[in-house]
Parts: sequence; C-alpha cells; structure tokens
Amino acid sequence: MQEWSHSNSPVIVRGKGFYLIDEHGNKFLDGIASMWCNVWGHGDNEISKAMIKQIQTIPHSTLFGLANAPSTQLSEMLIQLAKGMGHVFFSDNGSTAIEIAVKMALQYWKNKGKKRKTKFISMENGYHGDTIGAMSLGYLPRYFAPYLPLLRRAIKIPCPVSKFSQDDSHDYENRCLERTEAILAKNSSDLCALVMESGAQIAGGVSIFPKNYQKKIGELCRKYDVLLILDEIATGFGRLGNMLEYVEQNTHPDIVCLGKALTGGYSPLAVTLTTRTIFNAFLGESEQYKHFYHGHTFTGHSIGCAAAIANIQMYKKYGLVTKIRESSAYINQRLQEIHSSPIAKNIRLKGLLGGIDLYKARKPILKLREGTTTNSYIAKESLARGVFMRSLGNTLVIIPPLAIRKKDLKLLLDVIFNLVNKIEKFA
Ligand SMILES: Cc1ncc(COP(=O)(O)O)c(C=O)c1O
Repeated sequence: MQEWSHSNSPVIVRGKGFYLIDEHGNKFLDGIASMWCNVWGHGDNEISKAMIKQIQTIPHSTLFGLANAPSTQLSEMLIQLAKGMGHVFFSDNGSTAIEIAVKMALQYWKNKGKKRKTKFISMENGYHGDTIGAMSLGYLPRYFAPYLPLLRRAIKIPCPVSKFSQDDSHDYENRCLERTEAILAKNSSDLCALVMESGAQIAGGVSIFPKNYQKKIGELCRKYDVLLILDEIATGFGRLGNMLEYVEQNTHPDIVCLGKALTGGYSPLAVTLTTRTIFNAFLGESEQYKHFYHGHTFTGHSIGCAAAIANIQMYKKYGLVTKIRESSAYINQRLQEIHSSPIAKNIRLKGLLGGIDLYKARKPILKLREGTTTNSYIAKESLARGVFMRSLGNTLVIIPPLAIRKKDLKLLLDVIFNLVNKIEKFA
C-alpha cells in the first residue's frame, strides 16, 4: 500500500479496443486482460448493446421466489456447453462461486446422512479467491496469515508441476498421483470434496497440469467417494485454448465454477454448476431443511446475464476458440526468441496462458540490484512502454485479452522480451 500510494498510477477513464486510456490521454495495451477476464477489448460491441437493452427493459429482478428471463436463458446455454452439468447457481464473483461450491458439497453429504464427510482437500499453490472458504482452500501464508484464526485449512495434495523436474516429469506426475491416492485413502470417510483449478494454476505461478491429470484425479475421487470441485474461473472460456477445459480433458466433476471471462469482462457474474445427482439431494419437504440456503441480493443479475448471453453468442459468431489457437501458435513461435536467455526458465504456454520464470543461479529473481522488486519494476517499465502488465513474483505472465489482434500481441511480446533482456542486466 505504501508503494501504491507513491506510485502515481494512471487513472483509466476510457477504453478503446484492447487499450486503456488514462485521464491525460495516454494509451496502455491491456496486457493482462484486466485481471484475466477481458475477452473482446473495451469497445462498444454486442455485449455493451445487450447490457444497454437490458437496462432499458428491466435492469434486475430478484431470483428469490421468481425467475428472470436472462438468467433462465443463460442457464440453458451453460447447460448445453457444460457436459454433465444439470443446474446453475448464480453469483457475482469467482470467490463467491467457490463459497457456494463448498457449501453445496458440505450439505450434499449432510443431506445424504453422511455427516462426518466435512473435510476438504486442495492442491498446493492453488488459489480460489479471497473470501473465507476460498482462502481456506487456497491458503497461501504470504497473503492470508493474518486471517488464519477464521480459516479451516484444507488438506493439501501435491501440484503435479515441478519447476525443476523436466527430465522425469512423468515420474513426478505419477508420484503426485500416488501421494494423492494415499491421502484420499487415509481420510476418505471424513472427506467431503477435492477442489482444484481446472487445467492450470495461474495465481500460484502459472503451472499447466499434464494432460488428463485432472481426469485421473477425478477417477480417484470417485473411487474414494469424494466430490470433485473444479475451479475454471480463470481457465474456462478459452484461456487454455478450449471453451471449457474440463470437457476437453474428459473430466467428470461434480461441481464446476466459472466467472471472469463469462461476461467478456463487462459485468461481474459467476456461476457454480452442478450435476442433477447433487441437485436432487437438496429436494425434500421444507421441514427436512434439505434446501440450499444461499442467495445474494444480486444473484442472477439481469444485466450480467444479458452480457454473458451476448458474450457466448460472440464466441460462436467470431470463431473465437479457433482464433485463440492461432494466437497461441504465434506466441509459441515467438517464444523461441528468448529460449537462449540465461535468466528465462520454464517457458510454458497453453492457449493464451504463458509463463516465463526469471532465475539467476537457480535462485528466483524477486528483487533487482537496486532493491526494487521484480513486480514493481515490471509494472512501472511496462507502463513506460505503453503496456499494462503485472507479474507474479519472478514469473512473467502472458495472459492477454482472448480476442487480441496480432499487432497488439506482437507489442505485448516485444515488451515482455525487452523487459527480460533489461532484467538480465540488473539482476
Ligand atoms: C482460479 C481462481 N479462482 C477464483 C478466483 C476468484 O475470483 P474473483 O476474483 O472473481 O473473486 C480467481 C481470481 O483470480 C482465480 O484465479
């Protein structure tokens, strides 16, 4: 906060295409898709038009005791997309979608008469949001230690991506699976659910899971009667080159959370999807108290749902997933340019999620010679080069708006490579 208060950060007043424009008219390429949610840039498009139309029709009406048209239509669209899912619960941000998943899983077992099944498993380095349940799952001491008295930490399973095990990555993956199975076997009668990000961790430092890893985890969950909750908040809707990563990886989760790109980044909205089997466990006479007690004032917000409907229609209309794959191939080709850099390690990419770790003598470069953190150096120097970027410690992230044009992607990569070369001199 001290750094922030002295930073003179630009105040953004407008957006145009993939650019953010500040009060002085300076333009910055939105190099991190406004915290990984922006799809089409910041212009007027079908999404903004749908939102305006919705405001003029009815901005919002509650889902307490009523339905509303946009949330009904969006539910139907999501159920079409999300294989295996039968029901949608609406909220307005990713953390809350996770809270809902956690409550749903706990109550599912209670409703089934298995009251002991209350413990959660999550993956090392996972991140699921900043609310109490989400922090309990994705506990990172450097961020969340002050809140520990409120949290009930999950049991941890290993992340199958080891930064220094490229030679024997398959062995490492198998060892992680074995450890996971041992944890499941030991605790199974007390376990409620296993929660993990779908396809990749981003906040934890861009770890892209081996293909089908989550499918194998799903099979273990079934074997030990534990629910699988997949967090696709950051990785769904094309980020990894597939509309829904869990569908592509043939995983069979019990609950899936989506958010971020769901509305193209135009409106806060998130969803927790679940199967018909889970839903049915909440049915009963009112005195049985099986119903799911959760709801927010703005649950199923009509403007957010209208934005999401238009966004999903645009994916089809403009063939976005194909375009994402083309952009990914371009990044892949350009990444060859920094393979020879002595500080750029673990260069990785899937879809439009890339990561480059900065290391010197096997130590992460977290600070530069004159004492500045790598994070603040990147933030400041990228702005000076006309791009807004945020790194994750010593990891440079490539996470552009999903529909980014080639010339803007070129600028982003030029700036990233330029910063790697600069840091090589200062580290
Ligand atoms: C994987 C994942 N889950 C959950 C969240 C929380 O979403 P929100 O910031 O909308 O609360 C994030 C946010 O970055 C995330 O990356």
